[in-house]
Amino acid sequence: MCGIVGYTGPQRAAPILVGGLRRLEYRGYDSAGLATVEEDRLILRKRAGRVRALEELVEEQPAPGGAGISHTRWATHGPASDRNAHPHLGGRGGEWRVAVVHNGVIENHSALRRELESQGFAFASQTDTEVIAHLIARELESTTDLFEAVRRILQRLEGTYGLGVVAPEHPGEIIGARFGSPLVVGLGEGEHFLASDPVAIAPHTARVAYLQDGEVVRLTPDHFEMRHLEHGPITPRIDRLDWKPDAVELGGHAHYMIKEIFEQPETVVDACRGRLRRGEATAVFGGLNLTDRQLRRIRRIVFAACGTSWHAALVGEYLIERLAHLPVEVEYASEFRYRNAPMDDRTLVFVLSQSGETADTLGALREARRRGHLTLAIVNTVGSSIARESEGGIYLHAGPEVGVASTKAFSAQVAVLAMLALYLGRLRHLSFPDGLAVVEAIDSAPALIGEALQSEPEVERAADRIAGVRNALYLGRDIHFPVALEGALKLKEISYIHAEGYPTAEMKHGPIALVDRETPCIFVAPRGSLHAKTLSNVEEVRARHGMVLAVGTRGDSTLAERADIFLPIPEAPEVIQPLLAVVPLQLLAYHVALRRGCDIDKPRNLAKSVTVE
Ligand code: F6R
Repeated sequence: MCGIVGYTGPQRAAPILVGGLRRLEYRGYDSAGLATVEEDRLILRKRAGRVRALEELVEEQPAPGGAGISHTRWATHGPASDRNAHPHLGGRGGEWRVAVVHNGVIENHSALRRELESQGFAFASQTDTEVIAHLIARELESTTDLFEAVRRILQRLEGTYGLGVVAPEHPGEIIGARFGSPLVVGLGEGEHFLASDPVAIAPHTARVAYLQDGEVVRLTPDHFEMRHLEHGPITPRIDRLDWKPDAVELGGHAHYMIKEIFEQPETVVDACRGRLRRGEATAVFGGLNLTDRQLRRIRRIVFAACGTSWHAALVGEYLIERLAHLPVEVEYASEFRYRNAPMDDRTLVFVLSQSGETADTLGALREARRRGHLTLAIVNTVGSSIARESEGGIYLHAGPEVGVASTKAFSAQVAVLAMLALYLGRLRHLSFPDGLAVVEAIDSAPALIGEALQSEPEVERAADRIAGVRNALYLGRDIHFPVALEGALKLKEISYIHAEGYPTAEMKHGPIALVDRETPCIFVAPRGSLHAKTLSNVEEVRARHGMVLAVGTRGDSTLAERADIFLPIPEAPEVIQPLLAVVPLQLLAYHVALRRGCDIDKPRNLAKSVTVE
């Protein structure tokens, strides 16, 4: 939530900052701003609204200077307004000594504010961030070292921060600091970048250094140095972003969401690359950091995640129970972290996260580790907090996901969980032929997802029919129940239609009361073990004059005849059906939202990567 971009170097900072903010806008988009330093002058431009509004402002009133910081906001303290937009300035009596951008929440900001007000610091905003700016300004009255001023005040802050700081008396210098909110340095030739997410700076450089909690960095065009608040100077580790060149560009698509939906065949190829072993009918993972013997001792698995990642984990539960006969529990990370869930030392905890920065999931990871459980991560973002703090895990290799509505990360997670189920199964009772059938099924998934994507024209016709409805029910049995939940989440988050997912048979225990001609019941019902039972549930809806949409196996005329709208997916083994069935549901949400004129990549009230509790 919220995005930070900083630049110092020979180029004009403002266009680089605005370009970076545009790529970060998915992280928060209720206001945007930047501050540059030219010679010893601080130039501030900020505005409520989208990055486009800031861009217009900078066109009207240019912001010269070769160093600067910028921010796109998702409001926590104080509504979206010009005043509350970042950067915030610090100083007394109209003398601005510093500009600050901040991600995170300062929990003791009220006490700090009172202290600063009593000393003559006037506040212009309702944000918690402004205290940081004034605290630094106060330190700059007694030191000429900006790095030292920032370092000193960090000890006063309670809460989380990713910070970017510039000061007119220190042209060309940017200070960054991290505690609980990500920050990365980009290394160029004679220039340096700072960002809360490498997506912002990826077009400029692939060489990055991630800050860890408690670290502070000083950037000038030619130099960067890092210190840990307690342990002093450190030698940073330089990583390389191995993204494809067009990973963060729209590439001719209207929205990131549709681009990422269509990337899914490739996403699954990347998630499976080098991991399937036909000769042994199993899968292998390089980073689990557990021996087969240790894994055989495990008696139970707990998955903790939020949102779409939680839905993927539910698919994992069905797969692992089916293939490995291991009990699995799927927990909301936000609940898990505060519960007294009894767990023994043969329980293995996995947290799942696309961003690797979700505050609740990170909290669950820390709590599980504190209790002494083996805790692994299934995560997309390399170098993220969750990736770093877990004892091992599996990367999704899905590349950056920019659309706020998660799509390709879900597919990558399901593919990884299918391989994990296979691997755990093969460590136990799963036979070679049964294992091989799973390998072949997973191997066939990318091409079949490609075929499922071809149902887009049918989906568009379905979208025409349902774009005006107020409610929708998504229903699925067994492994398709989580797919129904995911379909409902996609629709509600980007089209604002109220949608709920249920296990199909659960409908008659209450939700059926909602069924009428105007409420589509969207059945996720590819041919499989419980198909006949699903057909009876479809009849129950038809008997009440409900509108039936069905995602089913191409050629399933029994289902197609009973449905008002039939969305076909290719015939496939059950273990990979969720990867196919989710596709028309993602497309449906997209096309409904398009027809309703919604802002698909920036849905109302949401932001990618929820780094607050
Ligand atoms: C839904 C969505 C969210 C995220 C959730 C967890 O489309 O994007 O529900 O899935 O906030 O995020 P990660 O996976 O980054 O931990």
